[in-house]
Amino acid sequence: MAMIKVQKGTKDILPNEMPIWHFMEKKAEEVFTAYGAKEIRTPIFEATELFARGVGDTTDIVNKEMYTFEKSDRSLTLRPENTAGVVRSFIENGMHRLSAPVKLWYKGPMFRYERPQAGRQRQFHQVGVEVFGIKQATADAEVILMAVDYLKALGLNDLTVELNSLGCPKCREEFKQRLKDVIRPYLPQLCEDCQTRFEKNPLRLLDCKSPECQEIYSKPEIQAVIQGDFICEECSSHFEELKSYLDVLGIKYERNKLLVRGLDYYNRTVFEIKSNNLGSQNAVCGGGRYDSLVKNLGGEDTPAIGFAMGMERLASLLGEKQEERLTAYIVSNNTLEAVKLTQELRQKGISCEFDLTNKKFVKQLEKASKVSKYAVILGEDEISKGEVTVKNLDTSEQTTVKREELKLS
Ligand code: HAM
Repeated sequence: MAMIKVQKGTKDILPNEMPIWHFMEKKAEEVFTAYGAKEIRTPIFEATELFARGVGDTTDIVNKEMYTFEKSDRSLTLRPENTAGVVRSFIENGMHRLSAPVKLWYKGPMFRYERPQAGRQRQFHQVGVEVFGIKQATADAEVILMAVDYLKALGLNDLTVELNSLGCPKCREEFKQRLKDVIRPYLPQLCEDCQTRFEKNPLRLLDCKSPECQEIYSKPEIQAVIQGDFICEECSSHFEELKSYLDVLGIKYERNKLLVRGLDYYNRTVFEIKSNNLGSQNAVCGGGRYDSLVKNLGGEDTPAIGFAMGMERLASLLGEKQEERLTAYIVSNNTLEAVKLTQELRQKGISCEFDLTNKKFVKQLEKASKVSKYAVILGEDEISKGEVTVKNLDTSEQTTVKREELKLS
């Protein structure tokens, strides 16, 4: 029979990789909890309309990459990202009534029908944070700090924070017009995607990867518009304030005026954190402010900002971590006593196993040294005295203790 294989762009996360995943998840809980964030878990599928309205129907994500299906006349979509779902839940559960800021964090799988390549999958995992209710730049600084702190807690320091401000809808509209005016003469030479973006979402012209388009955008008159400061006074002072907080916090960043992000909901602050060790898919984190999204999805007017990180990309930077060993392996030819002791230890929270096939004593000891930190030896002598012999399998040290006094870590 033909073998059924894992789907293109998806991966099994195998037991030997789990230590890294547990580490990323544990650190997320530790770091984000220290900032007062609470975990939220929203469904993996939502109404298609949530993403069309939330992420934006001019984006690649909504236009080309969604896993959409019909059930009972409803159009449903596997979440391509989690900001829209968290916002939906925030509104539906009346979280605007909670005292601001409301800080939520999440982890879980996302789905995008993209061309798979190193660092880009069709099912991938994100860990992310969304902070609601604060319009001041303090929240922007706090969110960027949360991302940087989390990466530090993972031991990842060799990363660059790129920062930009997209302004507000008003000043951005003027910028879009100026950009279109200066690019219009080259319109017939642009790639097909850019021709569509020109009408629908001119800001996205800036992050086109086609070398021909890039050459056009590097022309002096176009660069003058891109590199010029277009944001209004209010947006500009918000951005300056953010930068001064980041300076005080010692967070290094680079201004990248080409950073526009691939989702429509952003205004003002946008940021990405990039690694030099990841090839072309080098962004480990992307985020920004989205002050209109809650209102656009039917909620009260609530400013918000957040980020998400690709966990597969983090995992590939973290490399391998030792597989977790059992704490104890019971070595005994008395299966009934071994079963009892195994249960006693498990109830004390000590991970342990015994030999289910009652192999020879020496074989059991060999197995113990492969899978656990300690061999807990239960010979007839120990059983009669109510004792156990504990062998540390790293140092070969051996001690005998009363069974009820056995402590292992
Ligand atoms: P995003 O930039 O689309 O933003 O994704 C965030 C991160 O998810 C990326 O930097 C990357 O590490 C990872 N990622 C995205 N697509 C893939 C893929 N196909 N394969 C592997 N990793 C991937 C968002 O999703 C926004 N919701 C972030 C946000 C939260 N903004 C505000 N709040």
